Amino acid sequence: MVNKLDRDSVRDMKSYILRRITTEGEPVGGSNLAEELGISRTAIWKHIQTLQSAGYPITTGHNGYQLEPEEEAKRISRWSVEGETERLHWHSRLDSTMIEARRLAEEGALHRTIVGADRQMIGRGRLSRSWDSSEGGLYFSLILRPKAPLESAHRYTFLCSLAAAQLIEAALPSSQAGAHRYKAGVKWPNDVLVSGKKIAGILTELRGEPGRIDYLCIGIGINVANPLPEALSGQAVNLKELTEDLKITMPGRAELLRRFIRIFDELFPTALSRELLEMWRERSDTLGRQVTVDTGSKKIEGKARDVDESGGLIIETETGTQTIHAGDIIHARHR
Ligand code: BTN
Repeated sequence: MVNKLDRDSVRDMKSYILRRITTEGEPVGGSNLAEELGISRTAIWKHIQTLQSAGYPITTGHNGYQLEPEEEAKRISRWSVEGETERLHWHSRLDSTMIEARRLAEEGALHRTIVGADRQMIGRGRLSRSWDSSEGGLYFSLILRPKAPLESAHRYTFLCSLAAAQLIEAALPSSQAGAHRYKAGVKWPNDVLVSGKKIAGILTELRGEPGRIDYLCIGIGINVANPLPEALSGQAVNLKELTEDLKITMPGRAELLRRFIRIFDELFPTALSRELLEMWRERSDTLGRQVTVDTGSKKIEGKARDVDESGGLIIETETGTQTIHAGDIIHARHR
């Protein structure tokens, strides 16, 4: 059961203990854990105490240790994802995970390091906007070091928005046959929408030079149970609202993060392939629509036709075809 566990890694032991005492459904004896991990019961007790101080309400009794699954799923710590303790940095509060991710990337953080926070004080959005990051949402940045040309950077952003869309859609299965089903779509360049409302946003920053990416920091913000600002009413939605509508249980943030990592790792090998663009096109909520793109300096109207190899949006306007590389889109109807 524990063969694969690196017995020298105390942090992985906590991850293991967390999983064992959560998934058993009944208390797990300290002596069982001690035997499994090849350490003393006192050492187990110390790990339990550290986990308790990190906020996990672990109950301790004659029969052992226990943690309710929903309590585990609610909070995230570096021990939430087994095997990831070295690459998962979780904070209760940060200015922005983008700032911390960049700092770690500059220090040489490993590929697919994750920096997350329960709350961000100055969460950043695209185009110099702010991103409301109150408690209850899922906010994290991925540090990626793909061996890929700089020109392909957008593909990793597409990949993350696809992963977020898949994650969200899978958390919204219809509760009964024939019941209403939600679909998660991607809006160019990288918003995730459900029923036309934004549920997740992606922000990419990078360092590199022509022909080579040094690192990418891709920030992902998912509205889970965070209250949405009044100003976004009608434009944004969270997972809580949608799961309540379907009368289904909402997965906790820790579970969502574990699922995201799984989906991301599966998609990652497709980053430079044609398949990735195909998957994006299939999920696109933008292609085929009449759109207005605000590039900051001008507004362009036309029909969104396709995305090119570099992630640019190809628009057919009255005066010809144009490719847009950055901007904000207002969707109109399909035409
Ligand atoms: C957008 O749609 O404008 C992009 C929003 C990106 C928000 C995420 S939350 C985690 C990461 N840290 C930030 O400050 N921003 C990104």
